[in-house]
Amino acid sequence: MLRDVSLVVHLLGVVLWVGGSATGAWTCAQLALTEGPARGEALGAVRRALLALTVPGLALAWLGGLTMLVSGWSELYARAGWMHGKLTLALALSAVHGVLLGRIRRAASGEREASQSFFAGLAMAIVLVAAAVVSLALLHPGT
Ligand code: HEM
Repeated sequence: MLRDVSLVVHLLGVVLWVGGSATGAWTCAQLALTEGPARGEALGAVRRALLALTVPGLALAWLGGLTMLVSGWSELYARAGWMHGKLTLALALSAVHGVLLGRIRRAASGEREASQSFFAGLAMAIVLVAAAVVSLALLHPGT
């Protein structure tokens, strides 16, 4: 029962966190192509949307994931190479999320130029890393 609830919490969080981050980064890449004072306001609005959706999503994904991990560590995951790879990539995605929020804040305030290639690259990286994490989670390679 705890595992089922944790999995639902985990996957709901992953959808909000990863889907929101990729969409937010791609939206910023499109905004970077526009000119004028409205761009800063729009970037600020994207940042507020991410704070409302992806931050709780990230927290739920870690909460549900760590609950499953701790309760099944010694018998299921301690020697599972795929899980170690998944955790490493999840940490990288968490770091990318922080970089994205910081970069949007600086671009919105004008402290830093909004770079189309940076935000587009980040969106692609999020999608590719997420594809690798989902593959590891579903295929359990090496077992
Ligand atoms: C945030 C850190 C994370 C932790 C601690 C974590 C942990 C876990 C654990 C323990 C499971 C159960 C695995 C099993 O026994 O099959 C799981 C399942 C899953 N995770 Fe994660 N995970 C994390 C991040 C992610 C991310 C970023 C994604 C997607 C991008 C993801 C996608 C999935 C999927 C799709 C499953 C379902 C696998 C299944 O039930 O067959 N996880 N996760």
